[in-house]
Formats: sequence, C-alpha cells, structure tokens
Amino acid sequence: MPNSTPEPTKPNDVSLPIAAVDASTERAVEQSIYQQLGAEKFWDIARAFYGRVDKHERMRPIFPADLQEPIRNQAEFLIQYFGGPQTYSDRKGHPRLRMRHAPFPIDVTMRNDWVDCMRGALVDAEISEFIAAPMMAYFERTATFMMNRP
Ligand code: HEM
Repeated sequence: MPNSTPEPTKPNDVSLPIAAVDASTERAVEQSIYQQLGAEKFWDIARAFYGRVDKHERMRPIFPADLQEPIRNQAEFLIQYFGGPQTYSDRKGHPRLRMRHAPFPIDVTMRNDWVDCMRGALVDAEISEFIAAPMMAYFERTATFMMNRP
C-alpha cells in the first residue's frame, strides 16, 4: 500500500509518549520559568508549600520548628533551578540534594506527601497549568530520587 504509515519496527515504538521532548529541551523549558514567574512567585510557592507542611501530620515532625529558614532555602533553590540568580549556591554551595536529604527518612509515602504539598502549593500560588506541568514533572522525578528508604 503506497503512502501508508510504516508499521513500528519494535513493540517499544508505540509506547513512546506523544509529547516526549529530549532532555536538553526539557531543561531549556525549566530554565525559562524564572523569567516567566519572577522571584516573588517563587517565595509565594515556598510559603504556600511550608504552610501545607505545617498542617501535615506526617511531614511536620521531620522539619524544624521554625520554618523561616526552610522557606528561604526552598525559594532560593527553586529560583536558581528554574533559571534565576544563583543566590542559593552563593550562600550554601552546591545543592547536593540527595546528600542534604540523607538525615531524613524518605520512603514512598513521604515522597508522595512532599509531591502533594508542592502540587497544592502551585495551586495556592496560582501558577498556570502551562508552567505547573513542567515544574511538577521535575518535582515528581526529583522526589523519587530523594527516596532513601524502601
Ligand atoms: C523535588 C524534590 C525535593 C526538592 C527539590 C527539595 C529541596 C530541598 C532543599 C533545597 C532543601 C534545603 C537544603 C539545604 O539548603 O540545607 C531541602 C530541605 C529539606 N527537605 Fe527537601 N526537597 C525535595 C524532596 C524532599 C522530600 C521528598 C522530603 C521528605 C518528605 C524532603 C524533606 C526535607 C527536609 C526535612 C529538609 C530540611 C529543611 C531545611 O533545612 O530547609 N524533601 N529540600
């Protein structure tokens, strides 16, 4: 049959997500987010995130009593990761996230709790779905990488 769509040569071909982009495109999208949101929105996200942590039965106990420093850490880190100034690393050095999370017991339940708090924080901070989607993709995969318990 001329001009027909060729059959996939491997079974895997059909399971590729339609919207898949390569890693460098994904990183470029991430790094454009600071320019779109501006610094204050990242502070809104960090405050909203820790507002949710503060009320969370499982999450609350692993964070310090005073959440001002965690809010600052999170806001500055996110600003840096999503393409803004490197204030976080100027103050604290390389993020080394997995190492910095080693003291905290992070199993799949904690991982999911964290992701839920962040998903809620993006809603609280009124981040559009168009920007929230690539941010959540980053959070989902990084939170998995942070797991250090079965
Ligand atoms: C996308 C995933 C995550 C990111 C980007 C992230 C980011 C960060 C950052 C930047 C810090 C500050 C580290 C420092 O400068 O000392 C931090 C601290 C912390 N994270 Fe995470 N984290 C993630 C996942 C998790 C998960 C799954 C948990 C467990 C529920 C967790 C619990 C903590 C705790 C208890 C702290 C200490 C608070 C502080 O000193 O700032 N994190 N995280």
